[in-house]
Amino acid sequence: MNHASIPRIAYGCLAALALAGAAPVALADSSGKWQSGKEVYDKVCGYCHESGVGPVITGRDLPADYIRYVVRHGNRAMPSFRPSEIDDDMLAAVARLVSGKQVQ
Ligand code: HEC
Repeated sequence: MNHASIPRIAYGCLAALALAGAAPVALADSSGKWQSGKEVYDKVCGYCHESGVGPVITGRDLPADYIRYVVRHGNRAMPSFRPSEIDDDMLAAVARLVSGKQVQ
């Protein structure tokens, strides 16, 4: 895992910190790998999307393709995440989870 990716996530979260005044978001564990889509959601997405910084994204039947697109490309206040930050497998997993198509 490329540690150069960490400041970018942290930077995105600084914006959230400014808005939410909350604690820093957790990053992938020491192996540098996310374990599941749920972990990505809980530690990255949920930081904004469960706190009111971003809109609620679960339970809305958002298409997984759309979720993957937004995560890779960003959208206004939504930061983009590179494959070095969230790899394709984990992105697919979190997109399925958020879309409601699959848990984990
Ligand atoms: C730093 C805060 C932050 C993080 C972290 C974050 N988001 Fe977002 N996200 C936002 C904000 C703010 C918006 C609303 C953007 C706008 O419309 O201006 C958004 C929008 C979205 C949307 C579009 C929602 C809609 O109503 O169309 C999706 C999908 C989304 N985020 C998915 C994710 C996923 C999946 C993750 C985790 C990999 C994630 N986001 C992480 C802040 C964040």
